[in-house]
Amino acid sequence: MTSASPVLSLSQVCKTYDGGVDAVRGVDLDVYPGELVALTGESGCGKTTTLKMINRLEDASGGSILYEDQPVETMDPVLLRRAMGWVMQGDGLFPHISVARNISIVPRLLRWERDRIARRVDALLEMVRLDPGIYRDRMPSELSGGQRQRVGFARALAGEPDVLLMDEPFSALDPVNRDLLQQEFCELQARLGFAAVMVTHDMAEALIMADRIAVMKEGEILQIGKPRELLDNPAHDHVSELLETPRRQMRRIRELDL
Ligand SMILES: Nc1ncnc2c1ncn2[C@@H]1O[C@H](COP(=O)(O)OP(=O)(O)O)[C@@H](O)[C@H]1O
Ligand SMILES: [Mg+2]
Repeated sequence: MTSASPVLSLSQVCKTYDGGVDAVRGVDLDVYPGELVALTGESGCGKTTTLKMINRLEDASGGSILYEDQPVETMDPVLLRRAMGWVMQGDGLFPHISVARNISIVPRLLRWERDRIARRVDALLEMVRLDPGIYRDRMPSELSGGQRQRVGFARALAGEPDVLLMDEPFSALDPVNRDLLQQEFCELQARLGFAAVMVTHDMAEALIMADRIAVMKEGEILQIGKPRELLDNPAHDHVSELLETPRRQMRRIRELDL
């Protein structure tokens, strides 16, 4: 993986919000094509802020962020956000427009022809396992939570991004749907080959899904590594603490299974 050049490269990235909160302090992170990097850590540690600086929903206060070797601050934020899909916390769908219109926001911005948009919407719905004939004209309020999140993924993938940024994409789902969508997402990613940065406060989710996990605390990355590396060699007490919850749950389930 490290032989290719990174699609995203963050170097000494900082963010101080107005009012003086140092939300992110000197983050270094490379993301390679096709990999899933999880940003994890306790609430308030700077995960969402880090993600938002990548597509310039927030501008960094210092350091550099390169997207395909180009500094993001030199890029048009609108173009940048079309090149990178964005899956928000919750589902982020516009409630007053149909599923098809929600999904086609980027293609319509790109001024694709109507037929091409319609074909793309149906293909995207199939991709996230929703029957286009049933779902394309529904309103978001007529969908379950899992279906809404599927539409959120379809919308983020509409412009064929090579990077997907996701903020707690599964946190609002019930455990069964969550497990299902996590698996389907990994299959979709393997098939389409985009890179993904996923913010999650759930260490178990990070362990299950990520190629690499970055553990943050108070605006800094404490450790980055493969799930196995973190489990075998936690570099910090806080990393061990965060790994303890999924470990304890595993032990309890095994005990029941005896
Ligand atoms: N728009 C904002 N203005 C001021 N402070 C903010 C803003 N957004 C987040 N913060 C602060 O920055 C820190 C990091 O927040 P955030 O990146 O949302 O953390 P996380 O996603 O890990 O929970 C927190 O202390 C939070 O209160
Ligand atoms: Mg957050």
